[in-house]
Amino acid sequence: MKKLQHIIEIEDYQSFDELNSQDRKLLDRAQLACKSAYAPYSRFRVGAAVLLENGEIVAGNNQENAAYPSGSCAERVAMYYASAHYPNVAMLAIAVAVESDEVKFTKPLAPCGSCRQVMAEYEHLFQIKMRVILSEPGGRVQIINGVTDLLPFTFNATELKGS
Ligand code: THU
Repeated sequence: MKKLQHIIEIEDYQSFDELNSQDRKLLDRAQLACKSAYAPYSRFRVGAAVLLENGEIVAGNNQENAAYPSGSCAERVAMYYASAHYPNVAMLAIAVAVESDEVKFTKPLAPCGSCRQVMAEYEHLFQIKMRVILSEPGGRVQIINGVTDLLPFTFNATELKGS
């Protein structure tokens, strides 16, 4: 037996102001998307913005439902919109922002496992790393350059074929 380690790299920024202009623009779009989230049950508003290889930015936000599991996270709304409208265009980056009148945030919001799996699907499809920009309201930003650092041992189409 031997122990293996998986080391991940995170870019850690103390504030939005430290970001380069492209990352900042994407995060601003994610923040804007929070404002129109449909989150009457959790009152936890999340926005996501996806940068496409053709330069377009598409945004989405969480959409909740009285039948709770029928709702969807902001990240998946944005990625599915991107895939539906620009089916052959790679997703280069996704920025995620959150706001709530009740919750006090102390670190950047981490995407749920299902959203990480969907990010992994598109990263695998386009064979290009997706930059994931995570943020805390008015605070820190953490950037992970590639979804496999957010979801190691990823299940993707390669596994379906066996190895
Ligand atoms: N949510 C997101 O939209 N993205 C995340 O990364 C975490 C959670 C949403 C789902 C639900 O509408 C609310 O936040 C509370 O979980």
